[in-house]
Amino acid sequence: MRGADLAARLKSGGPQLSVGILTADLGRMADELARLEAAGMTVVHTDVMDGVFCPMLTVGEPFVRAQRTSLLKDVHLMIDEPLDKVAMFARAGADMITFQVESARNPHRVLQAISSLANENDASRGIIRGLAISPGTPLEVLPPLLDELDYVMLLAINPGWGGQKFLASTEARVAGVRAMVTASGREILVGIDGGVTKANIREVGALGADLVVTGSAVFDGTSEIEANAAFMLEGLRAGA
Ligand code: DX5
Ligand code: ZN
Repeated sequence: MRGADLAARLKSGGPQLSVGILTADLGRMADELARLEAAGMTVVHTDVMDGVFCPMLTVGEPFVRAQRTSLLKDVHLMIDEPLDKVAMFARAGADMITFQVESARNPHRVLQAISSLANENDASRGIIRGLAISPGTPLEVLPPLLDELDYVMLLAINPGWGGQKFLASTEARVAGVRAMVTASGREILVGIDGGVTKANIREVGALGADLVVTGSAVFDGTSEIEANAAFMLEGLRAGA
């Protein structure tokens, strides 16, 4: 199975949440992951930031490796020049590797590099090749890359930290990406990341994304992780 097949499998289950783990209680990551699994979640999202491409420094390859889970590992790279870094994330068990188009001198080459990597969890799965696009980047970067990717993730905030406000421009940008994907004739997932809350999850669901990232709405500092996750998934599917 190539990354494209894994993407098709994800899509067939209806819209999914990818839960941002960095706002969890990281001293108890194994418990937090087990609770997400029990709540019926399917994907866990890790925000890798290098303090160069964006202001925060977060976590790297050892953190992804430490996630022992049946959830798909969705790795979002917000790092300067990811080309020579993608292989280490594959070795750490990434099922999805998504990098910022703005961060790479040659994004097409990075996508080709991800294509050549094996999925360490299950070689038959492949790795989903993802491209993330920040709010200020014109969508015209996308068409020349569509033949080499499985996932387009639109940031609804500027990369940097969780808990920012969802930008209204995202709605038109999702429609624009969807039109480009449809025109390509390829099965490509469309995702949204950032600023998704309990208050706007239905509206976000109505935008028609296949994957929606949610961090602080699930890990909100209370013990209600399962209830928060269920609320967000129901909201997503009710809006869709
Ligand atoms: C921002 C990250 C997002 C974000 C999600 O740079 O890519 O994944 O932290 O967190 P919430 O859902 O809290 O906005
Ligand atoms: Zn992210």
